[in-house]
Amino acid sequence: MLSGWNIPSVTIEDHPRFGWRGLMLDVSRHFFTVAQVKDYIDQMVKYKFNLLHLGLTNDQGWRIQIKSLPKLTEVGAWRVERTGTFGNLSKPQPGEPATYGGFYTHEDIKELVKYAADRFVNILPEIDVPGHSLAAIASYPELSCTPGEYYVSPGDRFMVWPGGGQHFYGLLDNTICPANEKAYEFLDKVFTEVAQLFPFGYIHMGGDETARNFWEKSEQIKALMKKENLKDLDEVQSYFVKRVEKIINSKGKKMIGWDEILDGGLAPNAAVMSWRGMKGGIEAAKQGHEVVMSPTDFAYIDYMQGDAAIEPPVYSTLRLKKAYQFEPLPEGVDAKLIKGGQANLWTEQVYNTRHMQYMTWPRAFAIAEVLWSSKEKRNWEYFSKRVENHFKRLDMAGVKYAPSIYDPIITATKKDTASVVVKLETEIEGLDIHYSFDNSFPDNFYPVYKEPLTVPRDAATMKLITYRNNEPIGRMMVLTIAELRKRAGIK
Ligand code: ACM
Repeated sequence: MLSGWNIPSVTIEDHPRFGWRGLMLDVSRHFFTVAQVKDYIDQMVKYKFNLLHLGLTNDQGWRIQIKSLPKLTEVGAWRVERTGTFGNLSKPQPGEPATYGGFYTHEDIKELVKYAADRFVNILPEIDVPGHSLAAIASYPELSCTPGEYYVSPGDRFMVWPGGGQHFYGLLDNTICPANEKAYEFLDKVFTEVAQLFPFGYIHMGGDETARNFWEKSEQIKALMKKENLKDLDEVQSYFVKRVEKIINSKGKKMIGWDEILDGGLAPNAAVMSWRGMKGGIEAAKQGHEVVMSPTDFAYIDYMQGDAAIEPPVYSTLRLKKAYQFEPLPEGVDAKLIKGGQANLWTEQVYNTRHMQYMTWPRAFAIAEVLWSSKEKRNWEYFSKRVENHFKRLDMAGVKYAPSIYDPIITATKKDTASVVVKLETEIEGLDIHYSFDNSFPDNFYPVYKEPLTVPRDAATMKLITYRNNEPIGRMMVLTIAELRKRAGIK
C-alpha cells in the first residue's frame, strides 16, 4: 500500500488555456446536500475546474429557497419517491405524500458560495425556464398557459421524444407561459434573490427543450403573437428570453442560456452555452456573443461510458477517448468569445454520490485537460496512463470511478443473412480480451480475441473479460446473442 508521494523540488510554469473550466451538476432530478456538493467541489478543484454550474430547477424539483415565493420550496422541492429507470417511473398515486427531495436555504447557498470561492470556484446558478418548469408550475399553477392539475414529476413519462427527426412534445404542459405577465413578475422575484445570493457575474436561464404543443393551442399565445407581431413559436420563445434577459440585466448580471435561445433571434447581451453540438456556439460567436461549449457528443457525462451491456442504462454513450477529443475552440471563430467549456452531469439516473463520482471520473479528467492544457500537448496514450495513475489516487481517496476503459468496445454486424460477426476493440493498449460462447465464464485460459468472430450457430450468450499481464482488469460482460443479432440488424 502506498503511504505517500515524493514531490521533487521544481519550478512550474503553467497557465490555463480557457478561463471557464466547468462541471455542471443537476441537483433537481436528485437533490444533493450542501455537504455532498462541497465534496464534489473538493474533487473538482484537484483538477483545476473553477466553475460549478448548479442546475437548481427542473421538472423533478425546485432546489433554492425564494423567500418571496415560499411555495416553490414548500411544494416544488418535494416529490414522491421512485427508484428505477427515468421516464418509466410511475406517477404520484392519489393521496400519496410527496416526501422526497430538499432544497437549499439562503444560508446554505451562502455557505456553498463561500466554500467554493475559498477554493477559487465560481458557482453559476441555473433557473431553467420556460421549459422544464413543472416544479415551479406545481407550486404556482397560474404560471402555465394551460389550466390543469400539476405535480412535481418523479420521473414519469410526461414528455415524448418520438425519434426519427420528429419534434418532442409534452403530455403535460411543463412550460411557463410567455403570454402571461405573472410569469415575468414571478421571474423578477426569483432573479432578485438569485442575483443577491450568487456573486458570479452570470445567471443561467435554461431555455432548452421547450415543448411547444400546448402553446400551439393556447389562445393567450395566439393573442401575444398578434400583439407583438411574432410570426412563429420560435419568436414567442425569443420574446420570452429577451424579457428574461432584461430582468437578469436589471439585477446587474449577464444572462447565459442553452443554445435554443438562438432560435427566433438571440437576446442582445446573452451568452450561449452550446449543447446540441458546437453549431449553436459557432453561430452565437459569429453574432459577437460569448460562448461556453458543452456539446453532448464530447461533454455529456450523464451518458454511458461503455457498452450498454454493462453500464447503467442511459440513451447514449460517450467514451473517455471521445471526451478527450473535445475541442472547444472551432476554426474560424473569434477565440476571445469562446470562454471555455464544461462537462454536464444530469442526474435523472444518478441517485447517490457514489454514482455521481462514477459518472464524473475519469471523463472529467479528459475535460479538465482539454480546458487547461494547450492543444499541442494532447496525447491519448500519455493521458490514459496518467488516468490509470489517478485511479490509484481515487481508490485511496475513496472516490468511485468508472473502469469502463478496461472493457471491450463491441461491434456486431450481419454476415450473409443470418449470422453475426463480432468485432472487439479496446480504448487502451495492452489488454487481452478472452471470450466464450458456451455460457461459461471466460478467464485467461480461454481463447484470446485476435480477429472478428462469427457467432457459432446455436450460441445463446457471448461472455467477455479483459486481462492485463494475466490479471483480470475488465468486468465480466454478458451479452445475449439475441441482443447481438438486434444490434446487427437481424430480425
Ligand atoms: C440539455 O441537455 N437539455 C441542455
